[in-house]
Amino acid sequence: MLSTSTLLAALVTFANAAALTGRVTCPNGGTVSNLACCPLLPVLEDIQKNMFGDDGCADAAHTTLRVAFHDAIGFSKTQPSFGTGADGSIFIFAEKELSYDANLGIADAFNLEAPFISNHTIGVADFIQFAAAVGLTKCPGILRPTFMFGRTDATAAAPDGTVPEPFQSVDIILARMADAGFSPAELVALLASHSIAGADDVDPILSGVPFDSTPAVFDTQFFVETQLRGTLFPGTAGNQGEVESAVAGVLRLQSDALLARDASTACLWQANVNNQALMASSFQKAFAKMQIVGQDASKLVDCSDVIPQPPALPAASAKAFFPPGLSVKDVEQACATTPFPNLPTKPGARETVPSIVADPATEGACDDDGAGCVAKFTKS
Ligand code: HEM
Repeated sequence: MLSTSTLLAALVTFANAAALTGRVTCPNGGTVSNLACCPLLPVLEDIQKNMFGDDGCADAAHTTLRVAFHDAIGFSKTQPSFGTGADGSIFIFAEKELSYDANLGIADAFNLEAPFISNHTIGVADFIQFAAAVGLTKCPGILRPTFMFGRTDATAAAPDGTVPEPFQSVDIILARMADAGFSPAELVALLASHSIAGADDVDPILSGVPFDSTPAVFDTQFFVETQLRGTLFPGTAGNQGEVESAVAGVLRLQSDALLARDASTACLWQANVNNQALMASSFQKAFAKMQIVGQDASKLVDCSDVIPQPPALPAASAKAFFPPGLSVKDVEQACATTPFPNLPTKPGARETVPSIVADPATEGACDDDGAGCVAKFTKS
């Protein structure tokens, strides 16, 4: 057995090494900046290999991002009954929260993530935000997300009505976001997420229909394409929360169209066009804030070093363009102070953007109405 003095000496050596390198070695190998981050390493290894696999910025990455928002926004600065923010309630109380209309499709995320949550020791709230941050690193163009660790899991469900809906007015959406602590600029920053997104449930005949022509890249095309005059529906007309888009195969949410055109947000929206650095940095900041809504930041540990480095944006994606056949003449200028940038038109014939392929792991016992979404991961 080791004597106390030998143990102390070993600890001092260990602490000195950590102080020199800023890194410590976890019991199971791997190095981190803070020992408290060690439990994240097996989770990272598992989800990298078995949840995201080699799919890149695809369905799993998109799905994990959306649920992170829907969990976090269950919070109000004024009404405690709205929930405790990024607290895991959306999965812990899945049968209830997934029955809300605004959470239609979140069942996909539950089916995908629940088996991994059950297999690891970290809390549900931490898992949801960690998976979203790791998923984002699959998307070229993103700046490496930060990650704070140690959230307190929910003890109650968030009520219906905390998640903004695509058919709501700008005033209602901005008021809901403000009540949760987000400014119009922060909402626009967060909506860069719709650059790597699509809809399964807005049009009943379509699934995986993207919100811009480049859903596998975190680029500024979403902000370009939502500003173009809508001329077509990718599927059927008359769906609640959908308006005409400018590109075949692309679905436009009414909320995105209105925010792009409203006097209070139009210039914030347009500022992202062809400004990758602005979009990526404002998203990184707003996302970091979103990830800890309702949590006591002073009790969280900074484990950002565990998040992998995202791939660089290919040069071809770094410059925004008008989709084939469209030009600045198709822009519905809404920002009153700055003209819309004149971009090159992508050469070639008009295209129909292919749908995003569904990850088979999003299918499972959990249904869109919340039935069967039984959370078997009771964490203490
Ligand atoms: C005004 C606020 C917002 C509204 C009204 C809204 C609405 C929607 C709707 C209707 C869908 C399609 C769901 C489906 O049919 O499958 C969607 C998808 C998505 N949203 Fe939002 N959203 C908002 C804000 C956000 C924010 C702040 C984030 C992230 C920070 C986000 C991330 C996503 C992602 C990643 C998807 C794609 C999910 C997938 O492909 O599986 N959204 N959103």
